[in-house]
Amino acid sequence: MSRRDLLSYLADLGWRDVEAVSAVPGAASGPQDAGSPAAGGEEPLAAPDLAGMARALAGCTRCRLCRGRTQVVFGVGNPAARVVFVGEGPGADEDRLGEPFVGRGGQLLDRMIESIGWKRSDVYITNIVKRRPPQNRDPLPEEIEAYKPYLTRQIEIIRPRVIVTLGRFSMNYFLPEAKISRDRGRTFTVNGFLIYPVFHPAAALRSPDMMKGLQEDFQKLPKIANGETTSNIVLPKAMAEEKPKAAKPQQGSLF
Ligand code: URA
Repeated sequence: MSRRDLLSYLADLGWRDVEAVSAVPGAASGPQDAGSPAAGGEEPLAAPDLAGMARALAGCTRCRLCRGRTQVVFGVGNPAARVVFVGEGPGADEDRLGEPFVGRGGQLLDRMIESIGWKRSDVYITNIVKRRPPQNRDPLPEEIEAYKPYLTRQIEIIRPRVIVTLGRFSMNYFLPEAKISRDRGRTFTVNGFLIYPVFHPAAALRSPDMMKGLQEDFQKLPKIANGETTSNIVLPKAMAEEKPKAAKPQQGSLF
């Protein structure tokens, strides 16, 4: 058993001190390290572009997800995309290949993108958490928090016109009060970005109704991306009051 695996095993058994020991560079660390530089000394948030961020984040040891046998699944696609798709977190296929949405759900996402005349390489695809949660469990709040600065920075660099959230987790990241059954297929403006929630492709694979909903919502996407639909833009009052639009967004403050 490697040192890393041993530390991980002991930490999972509840050995609290292991978290402190494991905070040395190169070893697994807990979510309380969220503000410290990634292993190897390169600071992902200081990178000028997405490729530099991805390289620096590959050595990241910031959250408990780093303890598993996972790799960072940063994001893929056009760094100047008008549309960014944000899912929940990598699954087994994504962890194996290091790319988001490459499993069955990803193939459906590709078909949806092609159904509106776009290519996967036209858009940018990423997740709220960048490593696979064990057994595909839901990401924990502290895991989402630990990866928040990276998603924020990705969005700052790309500056898309539309952020399409795939599924409930991603939608509630941007729109905490939203309900997927009620709000999917509607656009919301949050801090100058259009947020467009749709069903998660994996959910659509399990439910014909959701599949139909996902198809319908995709058909509306080209017009939304072209700025042609303004009729259904909703500004949730509480959110608009809570997070006024900043003139120049600061690091980590977009959402
Ligand atoms: N589900 C997600 O939310 N993201 C992926 O990358 C794959 C499956």
